[in-house]
Amino acid sequence: MLELQNADVFYGKAQALHHVDFAIAPGGIAALIGRNGAGKSTLLRALAGGQAVASGARRLDGADITRLAAHECSRRGIALVPENRQIFPSLTAEENLRLPAAIHPPGYWTLERVYGLFPRLAERRATNGTSLSGGEQQMLAIGRALMANPRYLLLDEPTEGLAPVVVDAIIQAIGEINAQGTAVVLVEQNFKVPRLLAQQFHLIDSGRIVWNGGPEAIAEAQDRMMIGH
Ligand SMILES: Nc1ncnc2c1ncn2[C@@H]1O[C@H](COP(=O)(O)OP(=O)(O)OP(=O)(O)O)[C@@H](O)[C@H]1O
Ligand SMILES: [Mg+2]
Repeated sequence: MLELQNADVFYGKAQALHHVDFAIAPGGIAALIGRNGAGKSTLLRALAGGQAVASGARRLDGADITRLAAHECSRRGIALVPENRQIFPSLTAEENLRLPAAIHPPGYWTLERVYGLFPRLAERRATNGTSLSGGEQQMLAIGRALMANPRYLLLDEPTEGLAPVVVDAIIQAIGEINAQGTAVVLVEQNFKVPRLLAQQFHLIDSGRIVWNGGPEAIAEAQDRMMIGH
Protein backbone atom coordinates (compact mmCIF):
# COMPACT_ATOMS: atom_id res chain seq x y z
CA MET A 1 0.00 0.00 0.00
CA LEU A 2 1.27 3.45 -0.97
CA GLU A 3 -0.37 6.23 1.01
CA LEU A 4 -0.52 9.87 1.90
CA GLN A 5 -2.02 10.46 5.31
CA ASN A 6 -3.36 13.86 6.29
CA ALA A 7 -0.73 15.41 4.01
CA ASP A 8 -0.14 19.16 3.74
CA VAL A 9 2.10 20.45 0.93
CA PHE A 10 3.25 24.02 0.41
CA TYR A 11 4.93 26.07 -2.31
CA GLY A 12 6.56 28.74 -0.19
CA LYS A 13 3.68 30.08 1.89
CA ALA A 14 1.00 28.90 -0.54
CA GLN A 15 -0.65 25.67 0.55
CA ALA A 16 -1.23 23.33 -2.41
CA LEU A 17 -2.53 20.23 -0.59
CA HIS A 18 -4.76 20.29 2.49
CA HIS A 19 -5.09 17.23 4.76
CA VAL A 20 -4.94 14.82 1.84
CA ASP A 21 -5.63 11.13 2.46
CA PHE A 22 -4.90 8.96 -0.53
CA ALA A 23 -4.11 5.25 -0.81
CA ILE A 24 -3.36 2.87 -3.64
CA ALA A 25 -3.30 -0.87 -2.97
CA PRO A 26 -0.75 -3.22 -4.55
CA GLY A 27 -1.96 -4.29 -7.98
CA GLY A 28 -4.83 -1.78 -8.16
CA ILE A 29 -5.65 1.08 -10.51
CA ALA A 30 -6.78 4.36 -8.94
CA ALA A 31 -7.80 7.48 -10.85
CA LEU A 32 -7.19 11.01 -9.59
CA ILE A 33 -9.36 13.53 -11.37
CA GLY A 34 -9.53 17.31 -11.15
CA ARG A 35 -9.46 20.49 -13.15
CA ASN A 36 -6.46 22.72 -13.99
CA GLY A 37 -4.52 23.73 -10.91
CA ALA A 38 -6.49 21.44 -8.58
CA GLY A 39 -3.34 19.82 -7.20
CA LYS A 40 -3.15 16.56 -9.16
CA SER A 41 0.53 16.81 -10.13
CA THR A 42 1.43 18.02 -6.65
CA LEU A 43 -0.27 14.97 -5.12
CA LEU A 44 1.55 12.59 -7.49
CA ARG A 45 4.91 14.20 -6.68
CA ALA A 46 4.08 13.98 -2.98
CA LEU A 47 3.45 10.24 -3.43
CA ALA A 48 6.71 9.80 -5.36
CA GLY A 49 8.91 11.79 -3.00
CA GLY A 50 9.50 14.69 -5.38
CA GLN A 51 7.51 17.06 -3.20
CA ALA A 52 8.08 17.56 0.50
CA VAL A 53 5.19 16.63 2.77
CA ALA A 54 5.18 19.39 5.41
CA SER A 55 2.87 17.64 7.85
CA GLY A 56 1.16 14.28 7.69
CA ALA A 57 2.90 11.23 6.23
CA ARG A 58 3.88 9.27 3.15
CA ARG A 59 3.82 5.52 3.81
CA LEU A 60 4.83 2.42 1.89
CA ASP A 61 3.50 -0.88 3.22
CA GLY A 62 3.00 0.84 6.56
CA ALA A 63 6.58 2.14 6.81
CA ASP A 64 7.03 5.89 7.22
CA ILE A 65 8.86 7.16 4.12
CA THR A 66 7.88 10.82 4.57
CA ARG A 67 11.47 12.00 4.66
CA LEU A 68 12.80 9.85 1.80
CA ALA A 69 13.91 11.73 -1.32
CA ALA A 70 12.55 10.95 -4.78
CA HIS A 71 15.48 8.72 -5.78
CA GLU A 72 15.08 6.69 -2.58
CA CYS A 73 11.35 6.28 -3.24
CA SER A 74 12.23 5.23 -6.79
CA ARG A 75 14.54 2.53 -5.44
CA ARG A 76 11.68 1.26 -3.30
CA GLY A 77 9.48 0.77 -6.36
CA ILE A 78 7.64 4.05 -6.90
CA ALA A 79 7.90 5.45 -10.46
CA LEU A 80 6.50 8.77 -11.67
CA VAL A 81 5.89 9.68 -15.31
CA PRO A 82 5.55 13.46 -15.13
CA GLU A 83 3.39 15.65 -17.36
CA ASN A 84 6.40 16.93 -19.32
CA ARG A 85 7.75 13.36 -19.71
CA GLN A 86 11.40 14.39 -19.16
CA ILE A 87 12.83 12.52 -22.13
CA PHE A 88 16.54 13.20 -22.59
CA PRO A 89 16.52 14.93 -25.99
CA SER A 90 20.10 14.17 -26.99
CA LEU A 91 19.77 10.45 -26.21
CA THR A 92 18.08 7.93 -28.50
CA ALA A 93 14.88 6.21 -27.46
CA GLU A 94 16.85 3.08 -26.56
CA GLU A 95 19.43 5.02 -24.56
CA ASN A 96 16.58 6.64 -22.62
CA LEU A 97 15.14 3.18 -21.94
CA ARG A 98 18.46 1.78 -20.74
CA LEU A 99 19.03 4.49 -18.10
CA PRO A 100 17.07 2.95 -15.18
CA ALA A 101 18.75 -0.47 -15.56
CA ALA A 102 21.96 0.97 -14.15
CA ILE A 103 20.37 1.64 -10.76
CA HIS A 104 17.48 -0.83 -10.53
CA PRO A 105 17.61 -4.61 -10.19
CA PRO A 106 16.29 -6.59 -13.17
CA GLY A 107 12.69 -7.77 -13.16
CA TYR A 108 9.83 -8.62 -15.48
CA TRP A 109 10.21 -5.50 -17.63
CA THR A 110 13.12 -5.73 -20.06
CA LEU A 111 13.92 -3.82 -23.24
CA GLU A 112 12.32 -6.62 -25.28
CA ARG A 113 9.13 -6.60 -23.21
CA VAL A 114 8.85 -2.81 -23.41
CA TYR A 115 9.24 -3.07 -27.19
CA GLY A 116 6.56 -5.78 -27.17
CA LEU A 117 4.26 -3.44 -25.26
CA PHE A 118 4.99 -0.50 -27.58
CA PRO A 119 6.08 -1.87 -31.00
CA ARG A 120 6.33 1.71 -32.27
CA LEU A 121 9.23 2.29 -29.85
CA ALA A 122 11.14 -0.64 -31.35
CA GLU A 123 10.87 1.02 -34.76
CA ARG A 124 12.07 4.30 -33.30
CA ARG A 125 14.79 2.88 -31.02
CA ALA A 126 17.64 4.76 -32.73
CA THR A 127 15.77 8.08 -32.95
CA ASN A 128 16.72 10.98 -30.72
CA GLY A 129 14.26 12.05 -28.04
CA THR A 130 13.56 15.40 -29.68
CA SER A 131 12.56 13.79 -32.97
CA LEU A 132 9.86 11.61 -31.41
CA SER A 133 6.19 12.56 -31.70
CA GLY A 134 4.21 13.41 -28.57
CA GLY A 135 2.69 9.93 -28.51
CA GLU A 136 6.06 8.26 -28.96
CA GLN A 137 7.52 10.39 -26.15
CA GLN A 138 4.68 9.31 -23.86
CA MET A 139 5.29 5.65 -24.71
CA LEU A 140 9.00 6.17 -24.10
CA ALA A 141 8.39 7.86 -20.75
CA ILE A 142 6.15 4.98 -19.64
CA GLY A 143 8.59 2.40 -21.02
CA ARG A 144 11.50 4.01 -19.21
CA ALA A 145 9.55 4.03 -15.93
CA LEU A 146 8.80 0.31 -16.42
CA MET A 147 12.50 -0.47 -16.86
CA ALA A 148 12.82 0.31 -13.13
CA ASN A 149 10.31 -2.52 -12.53
CA PRO A 150 8.16 -0.42 -10.20
CA ARG A 151 5.45 -1.73 -7.90
CA TYR A 152 3.63 1.59 -8.20
CA LEU A 153 3.45 3.52 -11.48
CA LEU A 154 2.16 7.10 -11.25
CA LEU A 155 1.02 8.55 -14.59
CA ASP A 156 0.39 12.30 -14.91
CA GLU A 157 -2.11 12.95 -17.74
CA PRO A 158 -0.62 10.27 -20.01
CA THR A 159 -3.20 10.76 -22.77
CA GLU A 160 -3.33 14.57 -22.83
CA GLY A 161 -3.09 16.04 -26.33
CA LEU A 162 -2.65 12.67 -28.07
CA ALA A 163 -4.50 11.37 -31.13
CA PRO A 164 -7.31 8.86 -30.41
CA VAL A 165 -5.38 5.93 -31.89
CA VAL A 166 -2.43 6.68 -29.61
CA VAL A 167 -4.75 7.11 -26.62
CA ASP A 168 -6.12 3.63 -27.36
CA ALA A 169 -2.57 2.21 -27.42
CA ILE A 170 -1.77 3.84 -24.07
CA ILE A 171 -5.02 2.56 -22.51
CA GLN A 172 -4.26 -0.97 -23.67
CA ALA A 173 -0.68 -0.71 -22.40
CA ILE A 174 -1.82 0.47 -18.95
CA GLY A 175 -4.10 -2.57 -18.76
CA GLU A 176 -1.22 -4.90 -19.65
CA ILE A 177 1.16 -3.23 -17.19
CA ASN A 178 -1.40 -3.64 -14.43
CA ALA A 179 -2.04 -7.27 -15.43
CA GLN A 180 1.68 -7.89 -14.77
CA GLY A 181 1.14 -6.77 -11.18
CA THR A 182 2.08 -3.08 -11.12
CA ALA A 183 -0.34 -0.77 -9.34
CA VAL A 184 -1.22 2.38 -11.31
CA VAL A 185 -2.32 5.86 -10.26
CA LEU A 186 -3.83 7.56 -13.29
CA VAL A 187 -4.21 11.35 -13.25
CA GLU A 188 -6.61 12.89 -15.75
CA GLN A 189 -8.82 15.97 -16.03
CA ASN A 190 -11.97 13.92 -16.70
CA PHE A 191 -13.39 10.40 -16.44
CA LYS A 192 -13.15 9.48 -20.11
CA VAL A 193 -9.99 7.36 -19.94
CA PRO A 194 -10.00 6.46 -16.21
CA ARG A 195 -13.48 4.89 -16.39
CA LEU A 196 -12.07 2.26 -18.79
CA LEU A 197 -9.34 1.24 -16.36
CA ALA A 198 -9.76 2.21 -12.71
CA GLN A 199 -11.56 0.51 -9.83
CA GLN A 200 -11.45 3.53 -7.55
CA PHE A 201 -11.84 7.22 -8.30
CA HIS A 202 -10.81 10.30 -6.34
CA LEU A 203 -11.75 13.89 -7.10
CA ILE A 204 -9.43 16.70 -6.09
CA ASP A 205 -10.35 20.37 -6.02
CA SER A 206 -8.37 23.30 -4.62
CA GLY A 207 -5.88 20.92 -3.01
CA ARG A 208 -8.52 18.85 -1.20
CA ILE A 209 -9.87 15.38 -1.93
CA VAL A 210 -13.59 16.13 -2.26
CA TRP A 211 -14.96 12.77 -3.36
CA ASN A 212 -13.99 9.08 -3.46
CA GLY A 213 -15.99 6.31 -5.07
CA GLY A 214 -16.22 3.25 -7.27
CA PRO A 215 -17.24 2.91 -10.93
CA GLU A 216 -20.93 2.68 -10.00
CA ALA A 217 -20.83 6.23 -8.62
CA ILE A 218 -19.12 8.04 -11.52
CA ALA A 219 -22.32 9.83 -12.56
CA GLU A 220 -22.56 11.32 -9.05
CA ALA A 221 -18.95 12.51 -9.26
CA GLN A 222 -19.53 14.07 -12.66
CA ASP A 223 -22.48 15.98 -11.22
CA ARG A 224 -20.20 17.26 -8.46
CA MET A 225 -17.66 18.44 -11.01
CA MET A 226 -20.35 20.23 -13.04
CA ILE A 227 -21.54 22.21 -10.05
CA GLY A 228 -18.03 23.06 -9.07
CA HIS A 229 -17.42 21.38 -5.73
N1 LIG B 1 6.42 24.83 -8.55
C1 LIG B 1 5.37 25.52 -8.09
N2 LIG B 1 5.54 26.68 -7.41
C2 LIG B 1 4.48 27.39 -6.94
N3 LIG B 1 3.21 27.01 -7.09
C3 LIG B 1 2.97 25.87 -7.76
C4 LIG B 1 4.03 25.06 -8.30
N4 LIG B 1 3.49 23.99 -8.92
C5 LIG B 1 2.16 24.12 -8.77
N5 LIG B 1 1.84 25.22 -8.08
C6 LIG B 1 0.47 25.66 -7.71
O1 LIG B 1 -0.12 24.62 -6.94
C7 LIG B 1 -1.47 24.41 -7.31
C8 LIG B 1 -1.65 22.98 -7.79
O2 LIG B 1 -0.88 22.80 -8.99
P1 LIG B 1 -0.75 21.39 -9.70
O3 LIG B 1 0.24 21.55 -10.79
O4 LIG B 1 -0.54 20.34 -8.70
O5 LIG B 1 -2.23 21.22 -10.32
P2 LIG B 1 -2.76 20.19 -11.43
O6 LIG B 1 -4.07 19.69 -10.93
O7 LIG B 1 -1.71 19.21 -11.75
O8 LIG B 1 -3.03 21.16 -12.68
P3 LIG B 1 -2.94 20.86 -14.27
O9 LIG B 1 -4.22 20.19 -14.64
O10 LIG B 1 -2.82 22.20 -14.88
O11 LIG B 1 -1.74 20.00 -14.52
C9 LIG B 1 -1.78 25.46 -8.37
O12 LIG B 1 -2.36 26.56 -7.73
C10 LIG B 1 -0.42 25.82 -8.92
O13 LIG B 1 -0.40 27.14 -9.39
MG1 LIG C 1 -0.76 18.73 -13.44
